[in-house]
Amino acid sequence: MFSVKRLVESNNLSSIPSNYICQTNIQDYSIVLNETEIIPTIDFSQLISSNPKERSMAIQKLGDACRDWGFFMLINHGVSETLRDEVLRTSQCFFDLPSEEKKEYISEKLFDPIRCGTSFNLKVDKTLYWRDYLKCYVHPQFDAPSKPPGFSETLEEYTTKSREVIGELLKGISLSLSLEENYIHNMMNVDSGSQLLVINYYPPCPKPELVMGLPAHTDHGLLTLLMQNEHSGLQIEHNGKWIPVNPVPNSFLINTGDHLEIITNGKYKSIVHRAVVMNKKAARISVGTAHGPTLDTIVTPAPELLSKDNPSAYRGITYRDYLQLQQSRELARNSCLDYIRI
Ligand code: OGA
Ligand code: NI
Repeated sequence: MFSVKRLVESNNLSSIPSNYICQTNIQDYSIVLNETEIIPTIDFSQLISSNPKERSMAIQKLGDACRDWGFFMLINHGVSETLRDEVLRTSQCFFDLPSEEKKEYISEKLFDPIRCGTSFNLKVDKTLYWRDYLKCYVHPQFDAPSKPPGFSETLEEYTTKSREVIGELLKGISLSLSLEENYIHNMMNVDSGSQLLVINYYPPCPKPELVMGLPAHTDHGLLTLLMQNEHSGLQIEHNGKWIPVNPVPNSFLINTGDHLEIITNGKYKSIVHRAVVMNKKAARISVGTAHGPTLDTIVTPAPELLSKDNPSAYRGITYRDYLQLQQSRELARNSCLDYIRI
């Protein structure tokens, strides 16, 4: 398999192949500020609290985080550290499999249930990104590689739990918009919705400042839930600056996606983020799950949020068409939302 991991392991790499050298990266680094401490933190246990006052305060905080940041750390979410560690451990084992054993999963077809590859999309990437990946659709139907042993079972348990967490967050988000608790669930067919697992593998790099793991982009779904091993690399764009994210231990990183922006008619904007490579010695692994509607759902702004002063700003599009649109282009900060803005 063509992979950066293999590239790094097979050569005693001291210089970076020119097709990986990312032009914008170095200059971007100068505007990175360390403001990590002010990234919002949401306490999940308060969000599902039976104490109405505690819950409504948490919902307010959740709405503020979505509106002002499109990003927050989620603590006390109830997913065990053991399960998280097992997901990371077995993911490492998957990427460590000999290429022969991963061959059957290599695919560039967007709707193949399991896809393994490198960069973002080799057909359109002008620069290659320092990242290998495994992507699996895990809902409504669960698919995952049958090796290494235990991987699939671990992923099934983990993605089920992350779906439950996201379900509760979406209820809180509906309430934060003064909509009924199940509004987004019903409008977006969330219970039978699509969930895509993306495991990113960023190998060590001798000159990390020259390459990019994933360039600036937005995610397509409603919300993305992400965790990582002990190495950082995620940066979010906030008020025109890049902010590095150093997660609180055991937290999940949650970001808004394009479809949340559409249904809220732009109130909760989809956040621009990227993954830089910082490590010369160790690989960074991040595990994301992107939660969206069913593929056939036509996503439009919620009529309840529209008014004469706030007319619909986006044309309706099915989730399937939207995914296809995103995959057909280079990954870029100006998301595919530009295509459907009225
Ligand atoms: C993604 C993504 C960030 C990271 O997979 O869409 O933004 O930190 N990943 O790996
Ligand atoms: Ni992303």
